[in-house]
Amino acid sequence: MFATIAPRSIWWYGSRNRTAFPPVLYSFARYKGTTAKGAISVQSVSPHAPLGVSAALQGKVSEKPKPKIFDEFSLKDRVGIVSGGNRGLGLEMALALCEAGARAIYCLDLPTKPSAEWEKTRDFLKKMDIGAKLKYVSIDVTDQQSLWNRVAEIGDEEGRMDVCVAAAGILKAHTDCLRYPAAQFKEVLDVNTNGVLYTAQAAGQQMERFGHGGSIILIASMSGTITNRDHAWVSYNSSKSAVLQMARSMACELGEKNIRVNSLSPGHIYTSMTAAYLDKQPHLLEKWSNLNPMGRIGRPDEMRGVCVWLASGASSFCTGSDIIVSGGHHSW
Ligand SMILES: NC(=O)c1ccc[n+]([C@@H]2O[C@H](COP(=O)([O-])OP(=O)(O)OC[C@H]3O[C@@H](n4cnc5c(N)ncnc54)[C@H](O)[C@@H]3O)[C@@H](O)[C@H]2O)c1
Repeated sequence: MFATIAPRSIWWYGSRNRTAFPPVLYSFARYKGTTAKGAISVQSVSPHAPLGVSAALQGKVSEKPKPKIFDEFSLKDRVGIVSGGNRGLGLEMALALCEAGARAIYCLDLPTKPSAEWEKTRDFLKKMDIGAKLKYVSIDVTDQQSLWNRVAEIGDEEGRMDVCVAAAGILKAHTDCLRYPAAQFKEVLDVNTNGVLYTAQAAGQQMERFGHGGSIILIASMSGTITNRDHAWVSYNSSKSAVLQMARSMACELGEKNIRVNSLSPGHIYTSMTAAYLDKQPHLLEKWSNLNPMGRIGRPDEMRGVCVWLASGASSFCTGSDIIVSGGHHSW
């Protein structure tokens, strides 16, 4: 049985995915969301298909099915860049991407030579012997043209670009918002907002060039949504709010190219950035811990799963979203 009028959303979905079905051909059963035979013609198809319930319905009784959920999280053969990847959350996420199967992850950061922490992590990965390489590139994310050029060279070397994590960021000491110096405000926005845009552009240009789509993850912060109590961080908070809207805007422009853009917003996590406060003012540990329902601050390794999920096909319908990982801080 065929419906005479297809819902506009279904028509739109079909046309964007270039399955040129005139609306009148959609069966009512499909619109109802059933798995009637033929429904696949109006759907995109997972590279892991048959998958999930449709695999269960299609499978032969004699076959032993294999679980596929971890295949969906696999980054086998992918190539990516991580800004701020010399240490902290950037390095943690770079390693996670490699462990999930990426072929090469390039860590972009300011120092001319990588840190001891970075070198140890690279050696640790080598010992895993999974064929992944962690590379270091010294670059300033505020230098748009150099970033575009260097990431284009990475594209030339690797022949693809799939993942971008824009994690480079800075946080300044408390500064009164009514007298916030222009130069310092610009400096923070230049790294945390402009630098994130330039990084996403550099990777996105390569994703567009190779035509396989990709996943861009902009590291924002819960401070883009809430204001950290008793902290005079107007430049940081403003810079992170801008990143949230940047992710939504870019997602809307790039969806047609199958380039997904999301922001990832951590809560309080102990890294060099927060150590600048926590080490000097130890009472802050208890204070920050008590500001979320879990009663503790987060660990850098708690960014691993969410980063791999966003980078991989497991999140293939997620774009323009902000994923807040704050131990529930923002819920209180
Ligand atoms: N640690 C937290 O609690 C927390 C919470 C929310 C968001 N974040 C965000 O996570 C990201 C990573 O922070 P982190 O905690 O790992 O801090 P971090 O200071 O350890 O790492 C930031 C990295 O960015 C690099 N960087 C700074 N300016 C740069 C530039 N111009 N060009 C290239 N690299 C530059 C630094 O050299 C450093 O390696 C930041 O964007 C930060 O705002 C952190």
